Amino acid sequence: MSVHSEIKKITTETLRKMKFDNDKISMITAYDFTTAKMVDAGGIDAVLVGDSAANVMAGFETTLPITLDQMIYHTQCVVRGIERALVVADLPFGTYQSNPEKALESAVRMMKEGGAHAVKIEGGIEIEESIRKIVNAGIPVMGHLGLTPQSIYQFGTYKVRAKEDAEAEKLISDAKLLEELGCFAVVLEKIPADLAKKVTEAITIPTIGIGAGANCDGQVLVYHDMVGMNKGFSPKFLRRYLDLHTEITGAVAQFVKDVKSVDFPNASESY
Ligand code: KIV
Repeated sequence: MSVHSEIKKITTETLRKMKFDNDKISMITAYDFTTAKMVDAGGIDAVLVGDSAANVMAGFETTLPITLDQMIYHTQCVVRGIERALVVADLPFGTYQSNPEKALESAVRMMKEGGAHAVKIEGGIEIEESIRKIVNAGIPVMGHLGLTPQSIYQFGTYKVRAKEDAEAEKLISDAKLLEELGCFAVVLEKIPADLAKKVTEAITIPTIGIGAGANCDGQVLVYHDMVGMNKGFSPKFLRRYLDLHTEITGAVAQFVKDVKSVDFPNASESY
């Protein structure tokens, strides 16, 4: 049993303590009220309103098209369903990279209108000034290094990042910079487990891994992937806890059959 499982409200400070106590942090995505209620009831420590909503909710191929207004809407829905978990919301592509003033404006909107408890942004030294500006305004920032999907057209592929020394060294130095700038945690996506271990040992803020091995301070998965709604997406790092695609399509097929055969509704289901 986690030493922090009795905590009524998770804060960024709780996550810091969890790293210190070697109590692993669990994080999962949610984009709507009903899912938020379920993952909160399941005892999740942090909920990420990820810009992966662009993929799993809206059907886009990349995370790039989702807008700040759409992310704020998803965040509002999630926040209404959460009692305990820390709610972190992604700032979408184009809302923080171009200049620090715009970054602060976007983060303020996400906190004020979305009701998020923190924001997450992708990148290291390239967005240093944006991070500084947001943190200085009192807004908690979670970093995101490694495979940063908003840069997919620069990477050209969703393969594992930082296998080469130069990229691995930059990643370690970016992680240290994020800590120095006051980020409260950092997501490490799709990087070698040994590198994630090195980063985790090199900084005092928690690392949350996705495809980054067991030595991170916590793990995050996309909800739709882990409950098996997404049949077509099977990266090596994904553990599926349910097969909801099969369950749901089966239930719908049964409903169709019941309607057509006039088995539904029966007398007890009628007024
Ligand atoms: O948008 C998202 O879901 C994410 C996770 C993959 C970490 O950024």
